[in-house]
Amino acid sequence: MSTKIRLGILGGGGDSLIGVLHRVASSMFDQFQIVGGVFNPIWEENIGFVQKIGLPTNRVYIDFDTLIIEELKLPLNERMQVVSILTPNFLHFSMAKKLLENGFNVICEKPMTTSYNEAKILKDILEKTNTIFAVTYTYTGYPMVRQMREMILSGAIGKVQKIDVQYYQGWINPIIHDKEKRANTWRLNPEKSGISCCIGDIGTHAFDMIEYVTGLKVQTLLADLNYLYDDNQMDIDGTLLIRCGKNVKGVIRASQIATGEENNFTVQIYGEQAGLKWQQENPNYLTLLKDGNPINLLKPGHIYNSDLSREGTKLPPGHPEGIFDSMGNIYKGIAKAIKKEPYNEGEFPTIIDGARGVYFIEKAIESHQKGNIWVTLDNN
Ligand SMILES: NC(=O)c1ccc[n+]([C@@H]2O[C@H](COP(=O)([O-])OP(=O)(O)OC[C@H]3O[C@@H](n4cnc5c(N)ncnc54)[C@H](O)[C@@H]3O)[C@@H](O)[C@H]2O)c1
Repeated sequence: MSTKIRLGILGGGGDSLIGVLHRVASSMFDQFQIVGGVFNPIWEENIGFVQKIGLPTNRVYIDFDTLIIEELKLPLNERMQVVSILTPNFLHFSMAKKLLENGFNVICEKPMTTSYNEAKILKDILEKTNTIFAVTYTYTGYPMVRQMREMILSGAIGKVQKIDVQYYQGWINPIIHDKEKRANTWRLNPEKSGISCCIGDIGTHAFDMIEYVTGLKVQTLLADLNYLYDDNQMDIDGTLLIRCGKNVKGVIRASQIATGEENNFTVQIYGEQAGLKWQQENPNYLTLLKDGNPINLLKPGHIYNSDLSREGTKLPPGHPEGIFDSMGNIYKGIAKAIKKEPYNEGEFPTIIDGARGVYFIEKAIESHQKGNIWVTLDNN
């Protein structure tokens, strides 16, 4: 009998953006086996997609409630052990809640929920269970992001004194300027997306990345968001001033109307002794900057990298690591946790990170709506 972890998937069908990333990532280290799920709410699309990609069809269910009922009828050694939630945001909470209440481990896409209140409810439920809850902040799985974290945490750049994280995309530009299209995109619909588009979708990656690589907590922020049109309820651009301490200040710049930009996620952290710079579109390079020294380029797989970084590198140096590898590393960490093997806490984001990401979204919207004021984030 296979020892692979039995994985179910919700969403991520043939029409989705993120589904293929999870399918490939989960298979990367031979730890997971996709045994079924609900890939699409329309049955013909759901089953047709599963047939097309050659997965077994016997545990493809008509909807989520049926999945729970039928899976609970199976003995524990056949039942799905973990379920990945890859649906639009508004479905994450109800699905995650029911999965936790019925003893399943959960992997949830970000933003984890559409309100902080929901996130707290999930945290409370999780505390009473013996299950794993991961949130896929994908970019934290890159070897050179992990290296950045380990270097900063070990003091390699000195005390952090400046943070600048930019996440620029331009994909919503052709949609936002078309009245009909902007009315029909789920990411611009508060009922499906939550209270924010840009900050909820990509600002939350920037926020999570700052706390992941620096180990600091954002303590206060001031947000200035842009909605462009009066009939558009959702931010599609924002600039946020942040403070992580009295003299640790920085900026999050997030945009979906940065015309022509693809996925320009750039993380720049400057300490008293050195700076580190990483760009998602060139993820194999971590730039180390030091006054009076030549620029240093660090790459994956070398012995100078930390254990955490090298744990996320499969091949010898010179073989590029990409977004699939990054998500694969996150799944690898989750597999260790499910199998109760030792793992480094930097190997996958947890419900704590997911909840903070949602808290950040609410605080950013609050700051903007109250007239671009400073708001305080508790250290929760
Ligand atoms: N980690 C990342 O970097 C990253 C990147 C992109 C998207 N995401 C997140 O992933 C989630 C999905 O985003 P996407 O871009 O793939 O969306 P999408 O609209 O492209 O795909 C959503 C999928 O969910 C399916 N679906 C909808 N309702 C369903 C239901 N009731 N039951 C089962 N399936 C259902 C759809 O058929 C589709 O296959 C979002 O929460 C988004 O924020 C994360």
